[in-house]
Amino acid sequence: MDRLAAISFASELRDLYILTSGSDLQTNTPVHHLMPDVYYNNDKTSFAYATSHERWPILVQNIAEDIQSRIETHQNDPELIAQGELLKGQINQLRSDILHDSPLQLFSAPEIDCLDSFDQILKSNSYTWQTGPWLFIECYLYRRVNLLCVEQSRFADYDVFNVQKRKTFEQSSVGVYELAIQYRHLSSQLGSSDDESLEALFREFADISLWGNATDLSLLTNATLEDIKSLQGKEAREKSEKNILCNDLSLAYKSLLSAAPLSRRIDFVLDNAGFELFTDLMLSLFVLDSKIASQVVLHCKCIPWMVSDTMVKDFQILVDDIANPDLFPEHRPEMDFLASQISKYHSEGKIVVKDSKFWTSYLDYENIHPDENVCGGSELYSDLRESSLVIFKGDLNYRKLTGDRQWQKTTPFSTAIGKLAHSRIKVLALRTCKADVCVGLPEGKDEELCQVWKNQGNENGKLWCSSGKWAVISYCDGR
Ligand code: F6P
Ligand code: MG
Repeated sequence: MDRLAAISFASELRDLYILTSGSDLQTNTPVHHLMPDVYYNNDKTSFAYATSHERWPILVQNIAEDIQSRIETHQNDPELIAQGELLKGQINQLRSDILHDSPLQLFSAPEIDCLDSFDQILKSNSYTWQTGPWLFIECYLYRRVNLLCVEQSRFADYDVFNVQKRKTFEQSSVGVYELAIQYRHLSSQLGSSDDESLEALFREFADISLWGNATDLSLLTNATLEDIKSLQGKEAREKSEKNILCNDLSLAYKSLLSAAPLSRRIDFVLDNAGFELFTDLMLSLFVLDSKIASQVVLHCKCIPWMVSDTMVKDFQILVDDIANPDLFPEHRPEMDFLASQISKYHSEGKIVVKDSKFWTSYLDYENIHPDENVCGGSELYSDLRESSLVIFKGDLNYRKLTGDRQWQKTTPFSTAIGKLAHSRIKVLALRTCKADVCVGLPEGKDEELCQVWKNQGNENGKLWCSSGKWAVISYCDGR
């Protein structure tokens, strides 16, 4: 069977699964066997367990501390102090609810984007924090935090993760300088590059953007400066090359080049702000400078999300940070060059920055579909079909692409992404593995890595897949 036939066969197979099996979170219609179930927080063998029992309480504690610092820096502002104290109490209550495995409460705020659809699910499922489905509850958590904030006028636009995002980017100077120097050097030579070198450079920048995802703040709750440095930079990337478990990049590149050069648009469904966004912008600059693409569209979150995810305002913050000699005093010519190139493309409309409420719903990406009319799925469907390549960055996007289901790890990517596989949207996932779900692996790879992880002294071999040390690059051309 050729590859296209295999993809279409795989999609049909998945449709068949859906018709005949599992439980469907979106519609809550009972379906039966075969379709793998999602991951649950009470599964001790899953990273869901440590996440809900240990990581979420720490994250929520950090939020309370952030609010406290804000209160302390606004001592002459009684209104902010009163609202901050109230909010802090509610956040502490949330932490206690998580720790005590309380039932999830309805939002009862239908006026706020997509919250009603969470409530619809909750009305027919009695989920508790430590037993419910991991992905749904993780999305619920960030929506709950946001709802508590917007209910307090002085915190309505406050990004509870802003301080962490900014600080970590500032601490990324080693990787930032290295890439700024590399970019300046390269851009002077791009005009004379042949096709082969352009493809090699595309691979290099895609790799940079892939491993940029390793510095995700939700996993780095206790990271030191040394930890961050060791995750960034060329040496770290080269060492990690062998840890890319499947790599469809050349397929994606070939398909990208088949679009007419003047209307070649690359979309990034962004993940984290700071260093990862910086690496995504390096890839963006490269494709624009080299004329591989004529436009880049960056898709952001509307609200603070999964700690470090990029909101529209984080784009400008990053450009201003790069241009700020107080933050980055070294290599100013290279840094200024970078900031001015990004700003130039942005003002020319060659870099477009936008957001959609869809990304902060609980819906998986099969819902990027004409039938999804509540959370913006149908608008995104029309929009992303115009793109020559849609790059989904990071772990959470991958979990939503694959429905965060317990797929066999040898399942084809095109099966796991369901309807997207024949949506005519060209999907490229650049993902470091930080959760259980993973597909597209060769036969035997999972077993081998379980053993490797155990040999490294870890009790549960399956958690190799949540360690952030391995990665997958998966492509489906949407046909
Ligand atoms: O899997 C662990 C985790 O922190 C999840 O909570 C979340 O899905 C994800 O990683 C965030 O990672 P990324 O920023 O790569 O999406
Ligand atoms: Mg993230």
